[in-house]
Amino acid sequence: MAESMRGLHRSHRCAELTKANVAETVTVMGWVQKTRNTGGLIFADLRDRSGLLQITFNEEKLGAEGFEKAYRLRSEFVIAVTGTVVEREGGVNHKLVTGEIEVVASEIRILSEAETPPFPIEENSRTKDEVRLKYRYLDLRRPDIQRNLIMRSKVAAIVRQFLVEEGFLEIETPVLCKSTPEGARDYLVPSRVHPGNFYALPQSPQIFKQLLMCSGYDRYFQIAKCFRDEDLRADRQPEFTQIDMELSFVDVDDVIDVNDRLLAKVFKEVLDVEVPLPIPRMTWREAMERFGSDKPDTRFGMELVNVTDVVKDCEFVVFKGAVENGGSVRGLNAKGQGGMPRKKIDALVDFAKDYGAKGLAYVALQEDGSVKSSFAKFMKEEEMSALIQAMDGEPGDLLLFAADRDKVVFSVLGALRCELAKRMELIDENQFNFLWVTEFPMFEYSEEQGRYLAMHHPFTMPMEEDLHLLDTDEPWQARAKAYDIVLNGTELGGGSVRISMNDVQEKMFKALGFTKEEAYERFGFLLNAFKYGVPPHAGLAFGFDRMIMLMTHSESIRDVIAFPKVKDASDLMSEAPNVVDQKQLDELFIQTVKVEKDMDFE
Ligand code: AMO
Ligand code: AMP
Repeated sequence: MAESMRGLHRSHRCAELTKANVAETVTVMGWVQKTRNTGGLIFADLRDRSGLLQITFNEEKLGAEGFEKAYRLRSEFVIAVTGTVVEREGGVNHKLVTGEIEVVASEIRILSEAETPPFPIEENSRTKDEVRLKYRYLDLRRPDIQRNLIMRSKVAAIVRQFLVEEGFLEIETPVLCKSTPEGARDYLVPSRVHPGNFYALPQSPQIFKQLLMCSGYDRYFQIAKCFRDEDLRADRQPEFTQIDMELSFVDVDDVIDVNDRLLAKVFKEVLDVEVPLPIPRMTWREAMERFGSDKPDTRFGMELVNVTDVVKDCEFVVFKGAVENGGSVRGLNAKGQGGMPRKKIDALVDFAKDYGAKGLAYVALQEDGSVKSSFAKFMKEEEMSALIQAMDGEPGDLLLFAADRDKVVFSVLGALRCELAKRMELIDENQFNFLWVTEFPMFEYSEEQGRYLAMHHPFTMPMEEDLHLLDTDEPWQARAKAYDIVLNGTELGGGSVRISMNDVQEKMFKALGFTKEEAYERFGFLLNAFKYGVPPHAGLAFGFDRMIMLMTHSESIRDVIAFPKVKDASDLMSEAPNVVDQKQLDELFIQTVKVEKDMDFE
């Protein structure tokens, strides 16, 4: 039977107690991690969010009734204990923060009994994700998840404090809005009052924060929920959180400077990691050429080498053909991997194919000076040695080549570089390498839609040097005042200087193939606001969840979100999304169509 805690007040969290508290009377409350019964004595590890504390129950101190209660304790019972802190009799337990002490109970109350949980509440659970997420409230009791969420709260507090000190105002923007321009699919909410009309949940507060700049708020921030109906991955959730900001009367350097200092402060205060400032910058072009990625992991080398000029005249059709079609041939040198067995090389070829490669050509330089290669027979000897030289190839190295359009070559080698680094254990997991990637292209070709789209969003300002390109028939060449902040190969955040000039905005819409009417239909309120005096402005948003994921070395973004969704965007615990009452649908004038669907987890 559960008891009340009337008259009791918790004096400490479990792991707050130390040797300094010896001889004090304390009251602690929490969950029983486990018990041990040695006949005359009962031990229990008591757990709360701070950690574990050993409690000793003996009949002499507790009385018969109390001891009987201690006898009944099981894992996950919720109890309150009053007792005296003493030095541990059985010797120090170095595994526990509180390992030097224990509390000898003089009173115990059972606040709640508990059924045996479906999996043990412990660090580094081996329980299947599916089960953990179904019982998320139990999973959330595990110390590693608790540490993640505690760090998340701490980071949010530091970010708030820093931005407020820098003159930012925290302002909330709506969640029921009109479609926003980030380019993913919207989540829609039907309107009851306006039958047939829908709100969109914001993919980001982008338009609202720009409007706030028009209204003179100068520096805005928000820790904002964003919603995007897109395919989920380990670092993507359908609803996620941004640290979102916008600043007036600034240019690229101002935004980067504030955020350099923000990141340095957060990493110093939370992880005691020094982030050397300024954070290095690299143009998008350079990032692609050297790393095959716009979010390069700079913790290791193995950079791409462009060998197009070296192989352009050879007879190997794969290389020759790619060059003739305007593509390129580039390679990676996996140092010391020349002895890789054929099977493993084939696995790399399959990996490359997953990223769009038609194949992967290789040269394995053997220690004895001989060469194993998938294409040597098509090359003259001097062509092969020029190629090996261009790759800095030495005996024992494995050279891998992709030949295709630049886009494919970068995608394949960029991914392969990271995969090889993982297999070769080149990555120092304790290193945090930040990088600003700047000068993104304004536009990106969408194969799916057969037209150019804004790479960031349609309000991104072109670089002044490239403004004239918008008047040519090749506006695609223009670079944007857009920047991403990258950490260890993950895109942590992104932003841009916005267009605050009417004529530039019109050209931009034209380049994107929007008529003026279409542009007004979608973003009219922003364009109208600009007519009444708009300051130059720029901003950025960090993916907050991703930031915490990297700071906690978590494998999935789910481990830093209290109640996350799985790959099919459902919540296994609450079983959302779900059917609703016919009455609710009727009120919304909605009819549904039955579809057979495979519920596929992972
Ligand atoms: P962007 O679309 O680049 O920019 O988003 C900013 C950052 O948000 C994170 N992010 C996500 N995190 C988890 N799950 C997702 N589905 C997801 N999608 C994005 C990423 C990303 O870098 N309004 C602009 C910012 C601006 O221009 O000021 C925007 O939303 O870490
Ligand atoms: P094939 O003549 O098609 O057997 O190809 C010879 C070698 O070139 C094989 O090792 C293929 O994997 C490789 N290869 C094929 N297409 C490409 C490509 N686009 N880029 C690099 N290597 C390729």
